[in-house]
Amino acid sequence: MRIGVIIGSIRDGRKGQAVGEWVHERARHREDATFELLDLRSFDVPLLTSNVQPGGGSRVYDSPQVREWSAAIDRCDAFVFVTPEYNHGVPGAFKNAYDSLGPEWVGKPVAFVSYGGMGGVRAVEHWRPVVANFQQYGIRAQVALSTNTDWTDGEFDPHDRCLTELDVMLDMLVSVAGKLRG
Ligand SMILES: Cc1cc2nc3c(=O)[nH]c(=O)nc-3n(C[C@H](O)[C@H](O)[C@H](O)COP(=O)(O)O)c2cc1C
Repeated sequence: MRIGVIIGSIRDGRKGQAVGEWVHERARHREDATFELLDLRSFDVPLLTSNVQPGGGSRVYDSPQVREWSAAIDRCDAFVFVTPEYNHGVPGAFKNAYDSLGPEWVGKPVAFVSYGGMGGVRAVEHWRPVVANFQQYGIRAQVALSTNTDWTDGEFDPHDRCLTELDVMLDMLVSVAGKLRG
């Protein structure tokens, strides 16, 4: 079973890279799944302008970047979305990358690690109905990191309890992914 940990911020100086690496570092030692770090920034997914609706399932993509993104998502059975909260919602670049694909997501469970002043929880509440459209099971347990208390002098410095929360969330994700895959 392969689980993709997606870093969903592409900004210069983003906080999301350290968060994604923290998730991956913890997850990659597990023996119940293989975890792959997928950095959205490195895929350089263009804005969706294609006449072909990705949700239609044709997997026809003009852009080589989208084809690469499609292959990366296709090879995973489940995901961890590492997401910031932008203006009380999901980050636009990540939503665009999500919208740029269709069948690659279908039926694959998603767990959320969010961050922001209030832990990014509003972004996750926006993500849940979005991923439900492709019948993706949203894992209930989530990790909400506060930019006020889980960073020290600008460096990511999560509270000890966050690792426990991360482990619980990953346990649930692996369990659900195994059942759905079966
Ligand atoms: C466009 C934009 C909108 C933001 N809106 C929110 C917000 O609604 N709530 C919040 O807690 N933080 C908000 N922030 C602050 C982010 O939590 C903070 O900048 C964080 O570092 C963003 O993640 P990133 O660095 O990985 O892109 C916003 C930041 C940006 C750039």
